[in-house]
Amino acid sequence: MEKVLIIDYGSQYTQLIARRIRENHVYSEVVSGDGKLDLSNVKGLILSGGPSSVYEEDAPKLPVFFDEILERKIPVLGICYGLHLITFNLGGEVKKVEQSEYGKTDLEIIFPSVLFDSVDRNFSSWMSHGDSVTSLPDGFVKTAVSKSGILAGMENVQKNIYCIQFHPEVKHTQFGENVISNFLFKICSCSSSWNLEDYVEEQILKIRERVGDSTVISAFSGGVDSSVASVIVHKAIGKNLINVFVDHGMLRKNEEEEVPAIFQQALGMNFKLLDSKEVFLSRLNGIEDPETKRKIIGEQFIREFESFSKQYPTAKFLVQGTIYSDVIESAGTTTGKTAKIKSHHNVGGLPENMNMELIEPLRTLFKDEVRQLGEILGIPHHIVHRHPFPGPGLAVRCLGEITVPKLAVLKEADYIFREVLREYGWEEKVWQAFAVILPVRSVGVIGDRRSYGYTIALRSVDSVEAMTADWSRIPHEILDEASRRITNKISEVGRVVYDITSKPPATIEWE
Ligand code: XMP
Repeated sequence: MEKVLIIDYGSQYTQLIARRIRENHVYSEVVSGDGKLDLSNVKGLILSGGPSSVYEEDAPKLPVFFDEILERKIPVLGICYGLHLITFNLGGEVKKVEQSEYGKTDLEIIFPSVLFDSVDRNFSSWMSHGDSVTSLPDGFVKTAVSKSGILAGMENVQKNIYCIQFHPEVKHTQFGENVISNFLFKICSCSSSWNLEDYVEEQILKIRERVGDSTVISAFSGGVDSSVASVIVHKAIGKNLINVFVDHGMLRKNEEEEVPAIFQQALGMNFKLLDSKEVFLSRLNGIEDPETKRKIIGEQFIREFESFSKQYPTAKFLVQGTIYSDVIESAGTTTGKTAKIKSHHNVGGLPENMNMELIEPLRTLFKDEVRQLGEILGIPHHIVHRHPFPGPGLAVRCLGEITVPKLAVLKEADYIFREVLREYGWEEKVWQAFAVILPVRSVGVIGDRRSYGYTIALRSVDSVEAMTADWSRIPHEILDEASRRITNKISEVGRVVYDITSKPPATIEWE
């Protein structure tokens, strides 16, 4: 299968490059440049951006197979740090110039590069760099400059090397899609033949081969990711898959009954419900730190599966619905160079002595790809489009210490908020909506008496792949209805607020 390889130098956007390439129906993988690779089907190589400076002592280097890439005339695209690395290694000069460029930057194309076919001469791009190219390597021509005169593009057509200072993978870059498709089709001559159907077929075959007759246990959370992952494995090995749904006491209201019913009936899969409320809540007793909460929950999950799996001595594998954004934000990319944001339950919380092998069929997919795959697999629409729910559940929405009374208030408030959105036709319009209970109380007045109740924050965001998100512009009357219903029905709540922070700088969840 033909593919385009990406070397990750630590940019938060690296996986987005893979994503944009796949949108063009070309298979793309993020790989490490530290070892030899079979390059026979490689149509192109992309060197990503990253936070390093080429002059730093331990700055990441060109891949070990770079000379072979050049010998084989495989086209190369260097983005940001990738551009600096190529310049530095081929005899040009990179310097920290006074003017750093961050965010939206205007560019001008000054040379008719194939990479810029169908791109306007002047366009705005997304930049994020402190270093710049101050002298080009021999044989290269400058193709674009930024408004402040800094080199924004260069190329050497003989060597098949194309470089840009801006990020074409980010939606804020105008014509970014053209730049990527020009590279794929006009420079690398890729054919547009890869699709998710092929991806899933390949996964099914791989899983069948790897697992043989063993029993497989799925860590089924009821969310979109774990259900799609389970359905793939179910297609591969049928009855040998046992889905374990752990009730850790921090599920959304009624979920412990609804989820098994939906998945058993709609999808005909083996299901076991574990009532583990007590052990989770007692281990979390008195814990306030978000990372500690996440670690405890992640670890306890695995313990639950391990002890469950003892009933199935042939079970050697555990399915998890880990997706790309979980991996990136837990700094688990192929090189591990991306900065760690939080320990996602599916990745960061795994104890080292776990004695089951993981099956993660969605590890390289983004949320919307997972949803498309769910539809391809025949999972009912309303399940595929459920709002994402984090593995640690309401624990990361119950700020500060987790107590049973706080959880009960949160469950009810969350239920009411989503119920109101559904009634007004807004549930499917937003990407994810939920309530958070804060560890602060505030003063109010109810029936002439002073009240001192909990504060509930409502959070609703619009997003495509959870990497970035904006708060949803829900009409005021809907927020008003949610606020009234919550305060009327839950006497312990004294105040309702709406979170109007995007990601970044906030994350979607509060912890
Ligand atoms: P953040 O809060 O990191 O969330 O902006 C991004 C998306 O991931 C979900 N999320 C998780 N999903 N395990 C999961 O399976 C986790 O530990 C976890 N933490 C956050 C979150 O709900 C949002 O959709």
